[in-house]
Amino acid sequence: MKQLPKSIRLHSDLATELNEHVSLEARSAFVYYSMASWAETRGLSGFAAWFVKEAEGEFAHMRQFVDHLNDRGFQATFAALPAPPSEWESVQDVFESVAATEHELCERIESLIQLSHDRKDHFTGSFLQGFVPQQIADMAEADEILDRLRLAGGDGQGIILIDQELRSKAGA
Ligand SMILES: [Fe+2]
Ligand SMILES: [Fe+2]
Repeated sequence: MKQLPKSIRLHSDLATELNEHVSLEARSAFVYYSMASWAETRGLSGFAAWFVKEAEGEFAHMRQFVDHLNDRGFQATFAALPAPPSEWESVQDVFESVAATEHELCERIESLIQLSHDRKDHFTGSFLQGFVPQQIADMAEADEILDRLRLAGGDGQGIILIDQELRSKAGA
């Protein structure tokens, strides 16, 4: 394996945390795929399309972390993932977990940025900064859809409208 000069090699504790983030993005992707199946089998194909798009987004993020680790001289590794949940009470219940997942991802990025500052690793800091606008937008979008679902309050018409909106957001 290539040996990089110390000044541009990742700190091993930072590498461990980044590698853990690989699992978090992968786990989020599978949760979204599971939500897509839940929605698809309940007549909510717009929601399903949106969940699939999110799942693909999380895999793309995972891939960027893998590349960063490998490029900085640490071989990225993959851990076993817990099975994603597959049962939710309602589409609002699904979005309570979507919002929680996006908040968790946001907090993780924030603490990774803090760690890269503490380790004076500006390359990793700058790599992570690249995720900030998208992650903030993802979190805000999840919160907004959850708010709209709460307003609809389980009303079928309202949910169908949101389903149509999400279908067009997903470009499906
Ligand atoms: Fe992500
Ligand atoms: Fe996301």
